[in-house]
Amino acid sequence: MRRSLKTAAALCLALGATGCDYYYNDVPSPDDLMHVVPWFDAMIKSPAVHPYETAAVPRNTVPGTVPITGSEGDWSAEWGVGNTTTADKLVNPLAGQPASARGDTLYHTFCAVCHGDTGNADSPVSAKVAALPLTTPRAIAWSDGYIYSIIRYGRGVMPRYAAQVRGINRWEIVNYVRKLQADATAATAAPAPAGGVN
Ligand code: HEC
Repeated sequence: MRRSLKTAAALCLALGATGCDYYYNDVPSPDDLMHVVPWFDAMIKSPAVHPYETAAVPRNTVPGTVPITGSEGDWSAEWGVGNTTTADKLVNPLAGQPASARGDTLYHTFCAVCHGDTGNADSPVSAKVAALPLTTPRAIAWSDGYIYSIIRYGRGVMPRYAAQVRGINRWEIVNYVRKLQADATAATAAPAPAGGVN
């Protein structure tokens, strides 16, 4: 009994002393690794890497694009007076992609209450707030950047959704609105059923 206690105590001591030593002293930290592998901290000098090649640090966003994180430009003054120059120049990073399930969810969370499930402004409150249908030739003609901007800044009675819908989510909604417009156009363009009276 006493012997086994002694053995256990010795084992604990050995583990305690060497276990911590191992983790704190023998496993190199990432900082040390930088220096262990000589070329890691020399990569900044590689001819392929020019981290500070321009004076614009932090770098400005490419004209016409909208950053999906961080800050973005502010064209509210222009937008407020109905000038759509900047809005129309925005490039939809999801252009050409089909509407996503995410866009569907976002539209039904933030827009359908006023503009209706199909964008035809037929929800119970559409008429009360004078929400416009999003499937008219007029709404189809707005640029993607215009729809992005109306989500961000609102217009007239339509509230701004800048805080609730951010970044890429606005483009997801734009694509979903485009899908509703395509659906509405297909419905009106559908041929009359055979034998029907036109
Ligand atoms: C509280 C009700 C309400 C909500 C919610 C709402 N809108 Fe609107 N929306 C309006 C009203 C009202 C107008 C008309 C504004 C005006 O007369 O200037 C409008 C106008 C628009 C227009 C311009 C249509 C045109 O023909 O000029 C677009 C595009 C639009 N909304 C998109 C959206 C999108 C996308 C969402 C979801 C992010 C959304 N709206 C959420 C009330 C709403």
